Amino acid sequence: MDRKEWLKSAVFYEIYPTSFFDANGDGVGDVEGIIRKLDYIAGLGCNGIWLNPLFCSPFRDGGYDVADYKRVDPRFGTNEDLVRLFKEAKERGIRVLLDLVPGHTSDTHPWFRRSAEAARNEYSDYYIWSPNVWTDARGEGLRTVNGMCPRDGNYAVNFFSMQPALNYGYAAPTEPWQIYWRDARLLPLRREIEGVMKFWLGLGCAGFRVDMAASLVKNDADKSATCALWREMFSVVRGEYPEAVFVSEWSDPPRAVGEAGFDMDFFLHFGACEPAYMSLFRRGAESVFSRGSKGAFAPFFDTFAQMRAQLGGNGFIALPGGNHDMVPRLADGKDEAVVKAAYAFLSTLPAVPFFYYGDEIGMRYQKLDSKDGGYDRTGSRTPMRWNGGKNAGFSDAEETYLPVGEGESAESMEAREGSLLHTVRALARLRRTQPALAVSAELRVLQKEGVAVYERSGGGQRLLVAVNPNGAAVSLPFAAGKALASEGCTLEGETLAFTDAGYMIAQI
Ligand code: GLC
Repeated sequence: MDRKEWLKSAVFYEIYPTSFFDANGDGVGDVEGIIRKLDYIAGLGCNGIWLNPLFCSPFRDGGYDVADYKRVDPRFGTNEDLVRLFKEAKERGIRVLLDLVPGHTSDTHPWFRRSAEAARNEYSDYYIWSPNVWTDARGEGLRTVNGMCPRDGNYAVNFFSMQPALNYGYAAPTEPWQIYWRDARLLPLRREIEGVMKFWLGLGCAGFRVDMAASLVKNDADKSATCALWREMFSVVRGEYPEAVFVSEWSDPPRAVGEAGFDMDFFLHFGACEPAYMSLFRRGAESVFSRGSKGAFAPFFDTFAQMRAQLGGNGFIALPGGNHDMVPRLADGKDEAVVKAAYAFLSTLPAVPFFYYGDEIGMRYQKLDSKDGGYDRTGSRTPMRWNGGKNAGFSDAEETYLPVGEGESAESMEAREGSLLHTVRALARLRRTQPALAVSAELRVLQKEGVAVYERSGGGQRLLVAVNPNGAAVSLPFAAGKALASEGCTLEGETLAFTDAGYMIAQI
């Protein structure tokens, strides 16, 4: 199926592999564990999975410090396991996206080790280096590390200090040693990264979530060189794999989709989307989705609608309920009815929903010491709570790698009528099956204060959606025909009667 067609009704599930399910009893999640839980994911109604990095790594940044792009880290299993995961997922109608980290590697990556040698070699230009240790590798916002390597130079850092920036060049070099981004000396690195994409696509992955996608070309204030670079790399990779899906961590959809050619860009908690995204779930009592809030949806809808209009039909916005970087988790500070309303919102907008593992059972943030360079993010990456058994069913080990938190399990949610898990499942199914909920269908916002009310239309269907994020008991004058799904709200003739936080999805 054409990738854009498939994305129209896609619902994704993000997995942090360390913490999903441990099949071999060593206390760490693994690929085999994900395979064993595919029926759960399919049962949830998700048809896409995004896996955080599971490649060889010293894990000083949760695997975003890659030491070998083409090999699964032994803590998770083998390449063969991953290929089996692609195959088993496909049999259940699920496509798997891997995490591509093109902007930097670990400082233990063999490319970097060679690049850091004093003598010039074929890897010398793979990373950004200043000409000697007394000069910084200058560039907009670039930090450098000095005096750590045999090479007489300072290397530029893309994120943490042990994540040296790969060299895609400078859009506007200001020093003789800065390489212009179109210089042929930089092509070998590009070919390597394209090769990584083709390698995994050839083995059956469906595409990539691309880490720090905006970071490639330096001194690129308007990002036009970075966008052109992506378009060129896409034309190479899509030439061979036209179905490959690319979703960017950029948080500027008009640019990432409209200019760089990504299929989707995440609407996130930083960058251009920050104020709008943050207003929704993670501002404590100030969040829109919070009991007693004013339900101020305008900042979100205004930015969202404006950005969506700029996509020009080239792709979509991806909207996450949370992810491995967000603190706290979606359910923190909210009761179940409010979390259900949040899921209803995520599931009914013209954006591709991404559910973060564990949020569907209301898992909470844990205050923990940092592990694997997670720092405060570590508490949003704890083991999935599967059942009431040892380690909440996550692992047979005496001690798990990350501590298992408190709370309900998937099994008890399953057994409890009216639980969040049942709601998430019903909403994901609706999303997948109702043509008017497709990401490409129209959105008409009717009310953006208090209760959000909007119309979705497409594929010969019109739906009215109302989402109450704060629990106010209100009656609203909106006529609807037949309710498809609702909680906390009933249809009474020409009015929607809310008694609690919740939602109404009705045919009109
Ligand atoms: C992205 C990842 C984050 C990582 C960083 C550096 O923001 O989501 O987890 O630490 O990039 O790769």
